[in-house]
Amino acid sequence: MKQPIKIAVLISGSGSNLQAIIDHQKQHTETYQISLVISNKAHVYGLTRAKDASIPTELIDHTLFATRESFDQALQKKLDNAQVDLIVLAGFMRILTPQFTQHFLGKMINIHPSLLPKYTGLNTHQRALNAGDTEHGLSIHFVTPELDSGPIILQAKIPITSQDTVETLKEKVHQKEHLAYPQVIEWFSEGKLALKDNQAWFEQTVLTKPQQLNALNA
Ligand code: GRF
Repeated sequence: MKQPIKIAVLISGSGSNLQAIIDHQKQHTETYQISLVISNKAHVYGLTRAKDASIPTELIDHTLFATRESFDQALQKKLDNAQVDLIVLAGFMRILTPQFTQHFLGKMINIHPSLLPKYTGLNTHQRALNAGDTEHGLSIHFVTPELDSGPIILQAKIPITSQDTVETLKEKVHQKEHLAYPQVIEWFSEGKLALKDNQAWFEQTVLTKPQQLNALNA
């Protein structure tokens, strides 16, 4: 039987995506194993979720490092030592140095709450509302040096109605995220995903447009 791949999940907060990844893993134990959860912030609920699931945790407090480079070096060392196959950024609120992203190129993915390339960075729900957009959503992409701009693997869309607020959009996007992220990790574990020549590949074919969660009946 195929060995599950080893993943590390990096968080800075509540970790609801981490929980979805943990829950999915319990049903699909052959696909991936969560070797490590790392947070750059103490006392976040995501760390409690990991401990409750008996997953090893590490706190690497970024405020104790003089430079971005030294923090990233400490993080890289932990991840190298853990020998993981995939690094999953799940609400990890740090800008990463080019050296770090280059080191893990093709082995690191991020989830972002917008339909990239729209709204890189913060406050995506508010910005979608302010712009009068009629749809919003999430993107999962390979991490490259430029923030939130790596090749996109999958997107999921939600309609924006006149009733929507930042809170309702956040909730709707989260619901889709919790389906989408485990699915993408599973694809990676099955060897279906790759980053080549700064393009995302799915089953040996360049993704000219991202996979859509809805198309998967999720
Ligand atoms: C998610 O909306 C994700 O897209 C963004 O940060 C949020 C993390 O939420 N990168 P949680 O900590 O997983 O609940």
